[in-house]
Amino acid sequence: MQLPVYMDHAATTPCDPRVVEAMLPYFTQTFGNPGSRNHSFGWEAEAGVDAARQQVADLIGADRKEIIFTSGATESNNLAIKGAASMYAKGPAGTEKRGHIITAMHEHKAVLDPCKRLQKEGFDVTYLAPGKDGLITAKMIEEAMREDTILVTIMWANNELGTINEIPEIGKLCHDRGVVFHTDATQWVGKMPTDVTRDNVDLLSMSGHKIYGPKGVGALYVRRRKPRIRLTAIQEGGGQERGFRSGTLNVPGIVGLGKACELCAAEMDDERERLLALRKKIESAITSQLDTVQVNGHADKRLPNMTNISFGFVEGESMMMAIKEIAVSSGSACTSASLEPSYVLKALGIGDDLAHSSLRISMGRYTTEDQIDYAIEKIVAAVKKLRDLSPLYDMHNEGIDITKIEWQAH
Ligand SMILES: Cc1ncc(COP(=O)(O)O)c(C=O)c1O
Repeated sequence: MQLPVYMDHAATTPCDPRVVEAMLPYFTQTFGNPGSRNHSFGWEAEAGVDAARQQVADLIGADRKEIIFTSGATESNNLAIKGAASMYAKGPAGTEKRGHIITAMHEHKAVLDPCKRLQKEGFDVTYLAPGKDGLITAKMIEEAMREDTILVTIMWANNELGTINEIPEIGKLCHDRGVVFHTDATQWVGKMPTDVTRDNVDLLSMSGHKIYGPKGVGALYVRRRKPRIRLTAIQEGGGQERGFRSGTLNVPGIVGLGKACELCAAEMDDERERLLALRKKIESAITSQLDTVQVNGHADKRLPNMTNISFGFVEGESMMMAIKEIAVSSGSACTSASLEPSYVLKALGIGDDLAHSSLRISMGRYTTEDQIDYAIEKIVAAVKKLRDLSPLYDMHNEGIDITKIEWQAH
């Protein structure tokens, strides 16, 4: 087996070779600018972009006119949230009380930071706390809704836990109340069946590099009918993408994103089954071979490909050092180089100790059963070894409740 083993597909995925193959001609042969209307170089590039737009739309049940290409989910989120807030604002810019926005505490920074910016511009933002299971429900949204609510932005699946929120129900509620509904579906799309019409979504963000496509390309779905959603552009210039997003299109990237979507649509059902079996295997092996471990997030309402496990009496960074042959993500240092425990896990009420000692293991298209067996063996051995060195674990085994100890500094 080739080492290290990659188990961090929630961070990024390798490009599928079939995606690379589809992209290659668009670098050197079909290199025209799709905005060039008066020669065949431009027309051919435009045809590539149009085909990709259809492939993306087909994966999520949209019309191709509803797809706006962007540089990734971060840009899609910024355009959706800032663009909708500005378009549907109650009061003029620079005034207070411009409208109310609902989001959640454990969203990705690419949602939280645009919301924080809007707060500075006079919008009022509610950051909902998820349940202990990590979920945001339609009931929570309903209770937070106000007369002046203009936008709800709730991710479809969480990037650290894989937990799945009640998106169709939240969307229905928003439609009933005439509120715009955006979902960051970066971790969801391509893995789970999606139909923006059935699921009542108005705006949906997605990214190429999480679905075996290239980095630096993504899309925003913008509903055109029932209701027609309008957005203020964030980036202005040549008026590409119907004025929503100016800038010469990244044609090879867009073609790659389209191909990645086509492959996901064709292979999703088999992949989902296979990955779920692998996830169950790793979870049951770890929880049966080790005590004082917990799988974070709802037991069932989770993506098939990832698991987040906290190990009591183990220090996160020592753990990462001990399993260097497996590329996973830790519950600390998740969003930055800091050793702060993950704000996502803390939002679920998980204490600092367990948040610090958690691992996110995310599998993908090329993960094999052998790799899973290897990861189980390495993780179990590392935890046992680290606990052998832990006086706190000894005390715990002697029946002492270490949370009740009053430590004395000298
Ligand atoms: C839920 C979620 N939203 C947004 C992003 C940002 O995506 P991109 O890297 O395409 O900007 C990520 C990737 O880390 C993510 O997991």
